[in-house]
Amino acid sequence: MIQVENLEYAYPKAAVPTIKGVNFHVADGEIFGFLGPSGAGKSTLQNILTGMLKGYRGNVYIGNQELRAIQEDFYEEIGVAFEFPNFYSRFTVLENLRFFGGLYNRKTEDPYKLLKMVGLEQHANTRFSNLSKGMKMRLNFCRALLHDPALIFLDEPTSGLEPSK
Ligand SMILES: Nc1ncnc2c1ncn2[C@@H]1O[C@H](COP(=O)(O)OP(=O)(O)O)[C@@H](O)[C@H]1O
Ligand SMILES: [Mg+2]
Repeated sequence: MIQVENLEYAYPKAAVPTIKGVNFHVADGEIFGFLGPSGAGKSTLQNILTGMLKGYRGNVYIGNQELRAIQEDFYEEIGVAFEFPNFYSRFTVLENLRFFGGLYNRKTEDPYKLLKMVGLEQHANTRFSNLSKGMKMRLNFCRALLHDPALIFLDEPTSGLEPSK
């Protein structure tokens, strides 16, 4: 599913690369996690793997496609949850999920089904700005699953959540 070969990435103007000598392989159906102290480069790596940071050295294959060759439709196939849940603060939970679901070409999941899965169904009509941090993180997770993607990237998905979740 994912093949990373000799990956190296330096932010513009950075003296040293943030990512260097990274090699790994993730098989279909595998759950693969990065552990490391803050500043280690986990988010940077996710941003490369999701096609947002370009200009890396080495190769990244998602499926059989090198990331440099991806088109817009790549985003129909992957789900991404960013570290910080960014939503429209004056929209409700449901309005946000409907809005983001509308950006996909393919049929999306019933928002209520996803909200139920994370215990947010009672808050469908709550404004995003009135959610707690953990509730925002749960909504962030729902958004990543809206289009039933084959591959999911989650940055610090347990942040703000209690162990039982
Ligand atoms: N947009 C950016 N521009 C320049 N440097 C950055 C940027 N984002 C992150 N960095 C640097 O890259 C390094 C790795 O950051 P990051 O990938 O966010 O780490 P992690 O997610 O593991 O905490 C840090 O030294 C950070 O300062
Ligand atoms: Mg990070």
